[in-house]
Amino acid sequence: MAFASNLALTFLLLSFIVVTFASTNVHIVYMGHRSQSQNESELIEASHHDMLSCILGSKRAAMKSILYSYKHGFSGFAAVLTHSQAKLIADFPGVVRVIPNKILSLHTTRSWDFLHVKPDIVTGVLSRAQSGRGSIIGIIDTGIWPESHGFRDDHMDNPPPRWRGICQEGENFDSSHCNRKIIGARWYIKGYEAEFGKLNTSDGVEYLSPRDASGHGTHTSSTAAGVPVESASFKGLAKGSARGGAPSAWLSIYKICWSTGGCSSADLLAAFDDAIFDGVDIISASLGSSPPLPTYVEDVLAIGSFHAVAKGISVVCSGGNSGPYAQTVINTAPWVITVAASTIDREFPSTIILGNNQTIQGQSLYTGKELNKFYPIVYGEDIATSNASEESARSCESGSLNSTLAKGKAILCFQSRSQRSATAAVRTVIEAEAVGLIYAQFPTKDVDMSWEIPSVQVDFIAGTKILSYMEATRNPVIKFRKTRTVVGRQMSPDVALFSSRGPSSLSPSVLKPDITAPGVNILAAWSPASYSSLESDTSQDELLSAINFKIESGTSMSCPHISGIVALVKTIHPTWSPATIKSALVTTASLKNEYSQYIGAEGAPYKQADPFDYGGGHVNPIKVADPGLVFDLEKTDYLNFLCSMGYNNTAITLLTDSPTKCIKSRKFLSNMNLPSITIPELKQPLTVTRTVTNVGPIKSTYIVRVAAPVGISVTVEPTVLTFSENRKKMKFKVNFSSKLRVQSRFSFGYLFWDDGLHEVRIPLAVYSVV
Ligand SMILES: *[C@@H]1O[C@H](CO)[C@@H](O)[C@H](O)[C@H]1NC(C)=O
Ligand SMILES: *[C@@H]1O[C@H](CO)[C@@H](O)[C@H](O)[C@H]1NC(C)=O
Ligand SMILES: *[C@@H]1O[C@H](CO)[C@@H](O)[C@H](O)[C@H]1NC(C)=O
Ligand SMILES: *[C@@H]1O[C@H](CO)[C@@H](O)[C@H](O)[C@H]1NC(C)=O
Ligand SMILES: *[C@@H]1O[C@H](CO)[C@@H](O)[C@H](O)[C@H]1NC(C)=O
Ligand SMILES: *[C@@H]1O[C@H](CO)[C@@H](O)[C@H](O)[C@H]1NC(C)=O
Ligand SMILES: *[C@@H]1O[C@H](CO)[C@@H](O)[C@H](O)[C@H]1NC(C)=O
Repeated sequence: MAFASNLALTFLLLSFIVVTFASTNVHIVYMGHRSQSQNESELIEASHHDMLSCILGSKRAAMKSILYSYKHGFSGFAAVLTHSQAKLIADFPGVVRVIPNKILSLHTTRSWDFLHVKPDIVTGVLSRAQSGRGSIIGIIDTGIWPESHGFRDDHMDNPPPRWRGICQEGENFDSSHCNRKIIGARWYIKGYEAEFGKLNTSDGVEYLSPRDASGHGTHTSSTAAGVPVESASFKGLAKGSARGGAPSAWLSIYKICWSTGGCSSADLLAAFDDAIFDGVDIISASLGSSPPLPTYVEDVLAIGSFHAVAKGISVVCSGGNSGPYAQTVINTAPWVITVAASTIDREFPSTIILGNNQTIQGQSLYTGKELNKFYPIVYGEDIATSNASEESARSCESGSLNSTLAKGKAILCFQSRSQRSATAAVRTVIEAEAVGLIYAQFPTKDVDMSWEIPSVQVDFIAGTKILSYMEATRNPVIKFRKTRTVVGRQMSPDVALFSSRGPSSLSPSVLKPDITAPGVNILAAWSPASYSSLESDTSQDELLSAINFKIESGTSMSCPHISGIVALVKTIHPTWSPATIKSALVTTASLKNEYSQYIGAEGAPYKQADPFDYGGGHVNPIKVADPGLVFDLEKTDYLNFLCSMGYNNTAITLLTDSPTKCIKSRKFLSNMNLPSITIPELKQPLTVTRTVTNVGPIKSTYIVRVAAPVGISVTVEPTVLTFSENRKKMKFKVNFSSKLRVQSRFSFGYLFWDDGLHEVRIPLAVYSVV
């Protein structure tokens, strides 16, 4: 069985690069909430067929065109329609919106110890939360590699009676692949195939089943809820026990993304519909589209998650990998938990020795044999092909290197504006048959490198040193040393360079991201099917019994960390609403690392992190179950938010059971009971209201403290909140006024409520305008 040797590379790349395709004729007809009278899903499905028959002229045509009938969590369908048919159907009563199908992309182990959720601490949060026992996490991703040891079910309970999920069979996946850990598995390809044509799986790089060919879904699933696996490592690196955040939680798998690239929104909505029906407690989705953001009425992830959250399911999403630029965060609906990515205290240093015996430190994931021997080194710029520019060769752009000149040598390249990916540079040098790569780039802890050839990532200072040596020497040579794993020597966490930043370009008054969690160099299970290192004669049987781990970075990796923690919280507090859980995450997050230094943010330049980098801060799983006070929200709050964002009364009524009056006001946006206050335009003094609910000791007294944003005066009323048996909820007002006479920029502060036991902290972000 032959496997494309660069498949894994392509995939990693996909998780960082925007994939755009021309829109075709798949449309999602979204019809909102399913009403009480439509309580039988067959009836709902029949009504979808009727509506479609009416437009297409016959039942047969309708059956041929329809891809999915959404009928559990909400009502609607996906169908192949022409533009004019789509327009006609948009005017039907009951239709909220007709949304063109869209192609989304994925956002691409010591991390749990780093978070202090250690398995051996009996009094720790894991044991209090019984490791997430009783919670079901639904993972919407590329499927799962069920043989990975992290999905063993030895210590798992049977699924609960409320569970309605199924184990959907397919290629190399039958009901025996589900167990007491993987209690459900489904797959969705109709929307994808309607866009791209039938997927040909005969070359073995994809499976028409829940089986994961690419590895991404196996990684996120094991990060969220894998059981501990001893002596896991990635080619000897990061050796140790690998495990998920909630090792006793159940997993339900919804495969919608394909190793051939991308995921269709029609399939995504079908996965949400089924996950709601099946009875998951948490949905983890490490995917999304890239900016510009679709409005909430056009965003299928926002719609699916709205109905999930309305049913009490927490939805956790990755915030995107488009950092460090401002306004790049995605998946910004206020009802989802949007996760940024940060570094952990593990690094993979790799030494390079120059011919003059000078040593240079870099980072690498290479552990192969091409070590300890000198190779000639050339600068990419000096070996450009005749059809490529020196600039493109300097950064190792695809096809820019002359292989006659590169063959057998190590290549030095510098990151440029147009070519920012170390992974892409590695591919270029492999194509040019070079022996290795030194890639000089903007400083980051994210090792975005290959393990196939010696390739070392260095910062610009080190890169310039190497270049100076090369210029001063007639026959410059270098050698690569073995990559090591070092733990606890690096200040962390820091928000990762690639992590997308706020404010939300769509709704800047809702602070995003919400929180950060480990997402850099994360070790977790991977799909052996994607491995380039597999011998080309590996049989399918051998492949199916293979087990693999991989180090990956991305908000794809931080998202399931939060999903695991939400599972722990759900086990301790099964009745908490998604908004309450999010509030607990945000208000208890850490702003400082264990050395009492403020958390930083990789970027240009490196700086102290602010709420647009990490929301409330870095997740603190020990405190999250005991936040003291919470900021809760109900479905009506989200509906009012949608009103303010462009839905009208007609549409809002379809989204909910009862007629709702749309309150369209800027005031509502600032008064939405979020665990943060963001004011994108402060002109006149503005008073904002919040309500806190006491979930701590019944009799408690909280005193306010404010760290006001620079240039802004902040007053709070009242300044003391006293809770008792019959006073569990209290309101407070916060008055903001600008002291500035000039246009400013966002400045940040915090508001604290403190009872001596809990410090309930919410971020403030204010932009004052004149
Ligand atoms: C379903 O709807 C019918 C009326 O259409 C009603 O009699 C019945 O009680 C409903 N069942 C549930 C479970 O809501
Ligand atoms: C699928 O791919 C295989 C190998 O690449 C090829 O031999 C076969 O003809 C393809 N089948 C279809 C239906 O395209
Ligand atoms: C580099 O170090 C080795 C042994 O440590 C020595 O033999 C060699 O002469 C040195 N080369 C240079 C250029 O200094
Ligand atoms: C690559 O370099 C060789 C040797 O200098 C030269 O003959 C050849 O034309 C170059 N090829 C390309 C595509 O630039
Ligand atoms: C240059 O030409 C070669 C061979 O035709 C091609 O593979 C490569 O992609 C081209 N490079 C650029 C930068 O256009
Ligand atoms: C509500 O918005 C839809 C389009 O989103 C429009 O077709 C409809 O006429 C609007 N209804 C009202 C009452 O404005
Ligand atoms: C808010 O503060 C400003 C400036 O201190 C003040 O003029 C205004 O009256 C205050 N508003 C309220 C409602 O307290």
